[in-house]
Amino acid sequence: MVDFAAHCSSMAATGSDRSDLAAQRLLGRVALVTGGASGIGESIVQLFYKHGAKVCIADIQEDLGQRLCKSLDGGISVTFCLCDVKVEADIQRAVDFTVDKFGSLDIMVNNAGLSGPPCPDIRDFDLSVFDHIFDVNVKGVFLGMKHAARVMIPAKKGSIISTCSVASVIGGIGPHAYVGSKHAVLGLTKNVAAELGKHGIRVNCVSPYAVATGLALAHLPEDERTEDALVGFRNFAGANANLQGVELTPQDVANAVVFLASDEARYISGANIMIDGGFTSSNHSLRVFR
Ligand SMILES: NC(=O)c1ccc[n+]([C@@H]2O[C@H](COP(=O)([O-])OP(=O)(O)OC[C@H]3O[C@@H](n4cnc5c(N)ncnc54)[C@H](O)[C@@H]3O)[C@@H](O)[C@H]2O)c1
Repeated sequence: MVDFAAHCSSMAATGSDRSDLAAQRLLGRVALVTGGASGIGESIVQLFYKHGAKVCIADIQEDLGQRLCKSLDGGISVTFCLCDVKVEADIQRAVDFTVDKFGSLDIMVNNAGLSGPPCPDIRDFDLSVFDHIFDVNVKGVFLGMKHAARVMIPAKKGSIISTCSVASVIGGIGPHAYVGSKHAVLGLTKNVAAELGKHGIRVNCVSPYAVATGLALAHLPEDERTEDALVGFRNFAGANANLQGVELTPQDVANAVVFLASDEARYISGANIMIDGGFTSSNHSLRVFR
């Protein structure tokens, strides 16, 4: 028989704690965020911190990463580990460092990624560029999943989240290596979720549409990476978006990652959450509603 009284009292307790839960959805959790020194990763680190998590930033940009730690709580609950995600020893060290410093690893965010330069003709695609993009975007994510699993399996819990892209489900949206790599991240997400479910570990990814970050400008020569170029990127992305009147920000992506990391998503695994305002679910070429 269902114990309705117990059920109601537990609901009441939850109700009375509502403001705390809403404020700190990751209280006491430990997270590692690759590519956390700038862009979307930086927003994820900031929001995780706000929600009560302890966070290790793993990035190749040490100055930016250290500055972010200091700007939060002086490096007490947010720390930095120099890490190139395509190097297995680096990822292994970052995971072990996080566990040593904070006692566990509950959330792994594989966010580091590169788009590479635009290349409109496949005959000109430089294989070393292709290899580099796959090394960071695919091997880096796989290594993050592998080493997170190493410490999460004995704990019988954990949440692994990767930053994918709208380029995980459609073509014609970036250089071949980038689009191929993001399709691969989605494949890894589904396959690793299939394996790790039996250990209580959830594996998901988020797929944003265009966000005005360093990645958007990376293909430009350094002296052209200006505020004007970012405004141009924003205007271009806005004009081609499905959802009008709202600009996608790094915080929007971070909100989805916090959701996937939290208990609110406790039965969500193998999912690719599109943060694209309906971009990939609409065929704009027919211009039916334009
Ligand atoms: N900006 C967008 O429009 C957009 C859209 C969809 C998906 N994404 C994805 O979001 C993720 C974050 O990108 P972003 O837009 O914040 O770009 P960004 O360039 O602002 O940030 C990327 C971060 O990753 C770090 N990084 C790069 N190579 C690394 C490596 N080998 N090891 C460790 N760290 C490394 C960089 O130092 C940087 O801090 C990427 O996976 C990207 O593909 C971005």
